[in-house]
Amino acid sequence: MDRPTTPEADTSGAGTGSGPANIGVVGLAVMGSNLARNLASREENTVAVFNRSRSKTDELVEAHPEAEFVPAFTYEEFAASLQKPRTAIIMVKAGRPTDAVIDELMRVFEPGDIIIDGGNSLFTDTIRREKAVSEAGYNFVGMGVSGGEEGALNGPSLMPGGPDEAWVTLGPILKSIAAVAEGEPCVTHVGHDGAGHFVKMVHNGIEYADMQLIAEAYDLIRRGTGKTPAEIAEIFAEWNRGELESYLIEITAEVLRQTDAATGLPLVDVIVDEAGAKGTGAWTVQTALDLGVPVSGIAEATFARSLSSHREQRDVSGALPGPSSEDFTVEDADAFIEQVRLALYASKIVAYSQGFDEIRAGAAQYGWNIDLGAVSKIWRGGCIIRAQFLNRIADAYDAEATLPVLLTAPYFVEALGRAQDAWREIVQVSASSGIPAPAFSSSLAYYDGLRADRLPAALIQGQRDFFGAHTYRRTDKEGTFHTLWSADRSEIEAEDTH
Ligand code: 6PG
Repeated sequence: MDRPTTPEADTSGAGTGSGPANIGVVGLAVMGSNLARNLASREENTVAVFNRSRSKTDELVEAHPEAEFVPAFTYEEFAASLQKPRTAIIMVKAGRPTDAVIDELMRVFEPGDIIIDGGNSLFTDTIRREKAVSEAGYNFVGMGVSGGEEGALNGPSLMPGGPDEAWVTLGPILKSIAAVAEGEPCVTHVGHDGAGHFVKMVHNGIEYADMQLIAEAYDLIRRGTGKTPAEIAEIFAEWNRGELESYLIEITAEVLRQTDAATGLPLVDVIVDEAGAKGTGAWTVQTALDLGVPVSGIAEATFARSLSSHREQRDVSGALPGPSSEDFTVEDADAFIEQVRLALYASKIVAYSQGFDEIRAGAAQYGWNIDLGAVSKIWRGGCIIRAQFLNRIADAYDAEATLPVLLTAPYFVEALGRAQDAWREIVQVSASSGIPAPAFSSSLAYYDGLRADRLPAALIQGQRDFFGAHTYRRTDKEGTFHTLWSADRSEIEAEDTH
């Protein structure tokens, strides 16, 4: 590939904008370096790289001469090394570091240039940033990037938001580096301002739910059948050849198969059972609470991580009364494993359905025009929740773009019908044997809540009216009513107070 060499640095400010690079990356930790290498590996790209500390830039450029990076050591040099409209992807820690880099880029860039935040930023920060940056005449794009280090290098799933104008320049570049699923690049212009980061946040929420469900499945199988982690790895590997085929199932088999070199024990038995979290699952749940969307599976998964990490509470609670999971064994291991598989699949469908609900609610709230089918397609490759069944979700939205509940699409109705008995059996077994399966059971409760003809919410309305005159509506006539509970208990029409 014939590439221009590094220009003499123009330290006069914005530079000429005629530098050799068509894209730049700021922040060269692993994700940034890998994304820069991915960009550089495409024929059409010349990549400028910049990092706050010079050594990281030097190391990257030295380790990867094939990338023909254009290194910059000041923001001025970085701006000078980019063609107009200058396009730079920020890959730094979400939060204040992102704001600091945006300020620097606005100092050396010119109106019309494009600043992309590829970190895991909170979407409301992205909305705020886009407003400030666009008011100054620059284009700002908040972009979700999924797939971890490997994805960044070989093809991530990309969820850019931001203005249409930026997408014109950015689209071809992003398509060149994204993962490809069934011939289509895993990137779409998700929607304006914070839409991309919103969708990435929900992606992570679903990731939490999926991981928790898999963990519960593993735990039930292990306790119920006494199989070793290595044996259970084979079960997951087998599942990965069927309708559960997904990256998370695949890596579960890898993790369970791993033996600890120091002790010879299964690695999973050596790892402390306290799950960490960087906050995107919690954001998904907090946002869902604000939007009034019941993402109960994602919430249970997030809380399950919190519970696991409260060692001080777990330490004093071991003697609480209840069945001992030690006493639990199943008679027919193969039949039980199949029941767990079906329960996992059904609960997973619920988790994705809840996540897509949240995206739809977020789009309505923030005025984004998000194509849910397109989102399911860009998650088919590159990202952590990539899964075979995202094709089925895409089919469902292709058939009915405004489908109110994903669960009601014919494919899922069939799958949920098939899983019914097993799902209920597994939830019962977990409750009666004292094995915690919060995501399995909350998914089933959500499902039954949706199906219910009447919910006890009517009683809650009665209680609210009793103690707070919050009013209620009646099933048999229009209007809002209040019972005079502390007087003669007659009913009056009242103003709706919600
Ligand atoms: C991805 C992941 C990634 C996330 C990690 C860690 O899509 O590549 O979602 O963005 O940061 O999975 O998340 P937790 O530390 O919260 O588990």
